[in-house]
Amino acid sequence: MMTTENQATPSSEAAAAAPSPGLSSADPATMSAIVQDRYGSADVLRLDTVARPVVGADEVLVEVHAAGVDRGTWHLMTGLPYLIRLVGYGLTAPKQPIPGLDVAGRVIEIGADVTRFAPGDEVFGIANGSFAEFATASQDKLAPKPNNVDFDEAAVSAVSGITALQALTDVGHLRSGQRVLVLGASGGVGTFAVQLAKALGAEVTGVAGTTKQELVRSIGADHVIDYTRSDFADGRHRYDLILDIGGRSAISRLRRALTPEGTLVIVGGEDGNRFTGGAGRQLRAMMLSPFVAQRLTTFVSTEHHSFMERLADHMGSGRVRASIGQRFALADTAEAMRQMEQGRIAGKNAIIVRPPGTAAGS
Ligand SMILES: NC(=O)c1ccc[n+]([C@@H]2O[C@H](COP(=O)([O-])OP(=O)(O)OC[C@H]3O[C@@H](n4cnc5c(N)ncnc54)[C@H](OP(=O)(O)O)[C@@H]3O)[C@@H](O)[C@H]2O)c1
Repeated sequence: MMTTENQATPSSEAAAAAPSPGLSSADPATMSAIVQDRYGSADVLRLDTVARPVVGADEVLVEVHAAGVDRGTWHLMTGLPYLIRLVGYGLTAPKQPIPGLDVAGRVIEIGADVTRFAPGDEVFGIANGSFAEFATASQDKLAPKPNNVDFDEAAVSAVSGITALQALTDVGHLRSGQRVLVLGASGGVGTFAVQLAKALGAEVTGVAGTTKQELVRSIGADHVIDYTRSDFADGRHRYDLILDIGGRSAISRLRRALTPEGTLVIVGGEDGNRFTGGAGRQLRAMMLSPFVAQRLTTFVSTEHHSFMERLADHMGSGRVRASIGQRFALADTAEAMRQMEQGRIAGKNAIIVRPPGTAAGS
């Protein structure tokens, strides 16, 4: 599989050539981090110097080498849909002022109850505020980074990769030889879903916009549909499994593209209700499912290391590679998030906090 990289931008070139500007790791008590005091667009993000986080008993402190930009981080940055504010992330402002979930780096400290990692281990997974020089993470949300996978690739993989893996296997029950339709094949979850489905023996059709057709082809899709020109539900093809990741198609339309006993897994989709997001559509699918021969379902990804280890196996073997759109220095994180707001990211954007060769332990 190929790694996709767009044209290098000035910020991505800077990220590759020199330490992220403004890093303050000389002072052991502080660090540089992206901070937000209120919910809003990428404009609420600023680079600041803050106290280093303190590890809890079952947490490790990760020296962040790279972080990934994902849709979940955008939801937590904007506080949208409002439902997420009610479930504990902060009613009027984010409780976690440093954004960022996807992480890859080196363990430099462990909590009293940590058994899975030791200082020096190279890890990837999901952290508490990865847009920073250092971040804490639960030991259950990290896995060893495969030696042959670079930090930047590992850093964009956990959130999207384990969602794609669960959607295809644990939820979608994919079997080798089945026909899979991936709606939203050019995005974070979709680029992993296409490659994982191929690795698991499926015939894969990817759906994406005009500018991202080549990306979807390059990561191994057998067929590619441009949603601005063709209708995946025109009746010409039927699929055993549909992953609905982007586009928010009506359930009736999705069912038309399924085989009579096929499975629909609704992963997500933007532009839903500001209060509940896509939850209404997902609920309707679950309620309809018992009354039809097709299986219509949805899920919330489980952030557990067992899934990250399964993903790492695929990545370590080279069957699955992260598709990095662009690389940004930590100081340019707002621009990386802005690209997400504008739908311009192909695959995932990476934040390079410590370029290769500049890390404390290298
Ligand atoms: N269930 C879970 O646990 C879980 C976990 C992670 C993410 N999610 C959700 O899954 C969704 C996707 O996440 P992501 O990280 O992959 O987002 P992303 O990187 O922004 O990708 C969105 C994808 O949707 C595609 N798309 C947009 N309009 C479309 C249309 N009309 N038809 C088909 N595809 C269309 C985009 O294609 P183009 O760019 O080519 O237009 C892109 O490939 C989000 O809503 C996210 O919140 C859910």
